[in-house]
Amino acid sequence: MAKLIAPSLLSSDFGHLADEVEGVNRSVADWFHIDVMDGHFVPNLSMGFPVIKAIAKAARKPLDIHLMIERPDDYIERFCTEAAASVLTVHYEACTHLHRTLQSIRQRGVKAGVALNPHTPVSVLEEILPYADMVLLMSVNPGFGGQRFIPTTLRKTEKLKNEILRQGLSVLIEIDGGVGPENAGELFAAGADVLVCGNAYFSSEDREETLRLMKR
Ligand code: DX5
Ligand code: ZN
Repeated sequence: MAKLIAPSLLSSDFGHLADEVEGVNRSVADWFHIDVMDGHFVPNLSMGFPVIKAIAKAARKPLDIHLMIERPDDYIERFCTEAAASVLTVHYEACTHLHRTLQSIRQRGVKAGVALNPHTPVSVLEEILPYADMVLLMSVNPGFGGQRFIPTTLRKTEKLKNEILRQGLSVLIEIDGGVGPENAGELFAAGADVLVCGNAYFSSEDREETLRLMKR
């Protein structure tokens, strides 16, 4: 089982973005988590291509791009090329033809992720799991950093892990929202492979120690 940490740049200081990216480059973190919001799928806007391209230029670790947008198909090509995604995640709730969407991500040599909102049960993934490289479970309602972890996500993680094992797959499980040193251990134990941390990392007085605690 992988034990990866992906700091979410949404909580970083955008006035010093290059320094924030360099800090993650030098840390023991594994990926950059990048949250894209369109003001429709979620009640907030975040960053678009000009900012992500600047991040991609400075980043020396994989970019894990989380699209909280409607009609993600319209932008897959650009996120895979211009934005240099290593993993590109779309929301189950935003895709009418999810199989086609995941296929078009994979065809571009990028890992395809599916995200579930807190209210969406993992059972909806049964048929699509073989076509996904990662499932992102939202452990807060998407749209904002710094929210409180929804505790039922633990049980949901276990259920998803069991289904992945039942199908004999190696799909990664990522947990996103309200994650930090206080719940990282139980999430990894429940079957999580990748933990996103925004506030817990960027607001920490000792970021490296926070990462170490989370990986332990
Ligand atoms: C929320 C985003 C998360 C968020 C995580 O919509 O998808 O990635 O930035 O931030 P924290 O860790 O502060 O909850
Ligand atoms: Zn996210």
